Amino acid sequence: MRRISPVLQQDGVDSDLISLIKTILAACREISFRVSQGELAGVLGSTLSENVQGETQKKLDVIANELLKEVILETGVVKAISSEEEDDIIAGNPRGRYLVTFDPLDGSSNTDINSLIGTIFSILPAPADKEADDASMFLQPGTAQVAAGYVLYGPSTMLALTTGKGTRMYTLDKTYGGFLLTEDKVTLPKYTSEFAINMSNQRFWQTPMQNYIQDLLLGKEGPRGKNYNMRWIAAMVGDVHRILCRGGIFAYPADNKDANKPYKLRLMYEANPMSLLIEQAGGLSITGTERILEIQPDDIHQRVAVILGSRHEVETCLGYHQKAALAQQ
Ligand code: F6P
Ligand code: MN
Repeated sequence: MRRISPVLQQDGVDSDLISLIKTILAACREISFRVSQGELAGVLGSTLSENVQGETQKKLDVIANELLKEVILETGVVKAISSEEEDDIIAGNPRGRYLVTFDPLDGSSNTDINSLIGTIFSILPAPADKEADDASMFLQPGTAQVAAGYVLYGPSTMLALTTGKGTRMYTLDKTYGGFLLTEDKVTLPKYTSEFAINMSNQRFWQTPMQNYIQDLLLGKEGPRGKNYNMRWIAAMVGDVHRILCRGGIFAYPADNKDANKPYKLRLMYEANPMSLLIEQAGGLSITGTERILEIQPDDIHQRVAVILGSRHEVETCLGYHQKAALAQQ
């Protein structure tokens, strides 16, 4: 089985970018080890602090964030980093060619129940004409990403990675200590009969999503003419991993549960990297009205509606949104 460097070299990836990716993975290996130690490492449970999103931080969130921050800034090729767990960006080398934005521990409420969690990362080119402490550097659409990936801390630790030449999966070989290529060309099936959504929010969704899910639930007797199954891992990284493995549709749509927070997922370090992985595997990723990767961000922590997965199913869901928009005109 092949190691990462030769695969990336074969794809023509710049050597600085290869070493940056490998550095991120070295931190993820350590996070993986600490996660697997669970209670033995004393890392479970919450801290007393809250992050910028007003969520209580888990000890593991903080540890993963510190680890990633430290090693990424040490590479010298990064101009600034931005993390879910940091209010502001952190300046690195003013001459660094890359920006890294990450969710150090996605799905962290799963830590206490020994369930799936992961690290999500996105790498952008650093504009040469801006200062290293200028957060506006990050405000680039997802199409600008030069690499995106996640490391899933599951029964085995797996990496999904894209540098724009398809999506590949690697598995951490704990005996050798590195990630080995285990799926060279991840390809999403176009059709699916599996959906992932937090159904407890149903009454708060907008009409198109209500109608779409209602029709899935009607199964064989409804307009979709087949039965659908549902899965919800409560960690985007776990749901997206399942979809990359066997297809499906994942949605975290807008809801009116809290007027100040219509969306849940973060654009820069959740939706964008996952959208690139999904599109590079032949899937689609939209908000309901537009392609996520084309959104011009206006804030490093902005949130967005997400509908992603198997192409035909996402297109069908988009149809419900278009129909509702037409009816409103
Ligand atoms: O990071 C946000 C997140 O934990 C995602 O990983 C996950 O998909 C979602 O929130 C879970 O949301 P809920 O708590 O509504 O199930
Ligand atoms: Mn997250």
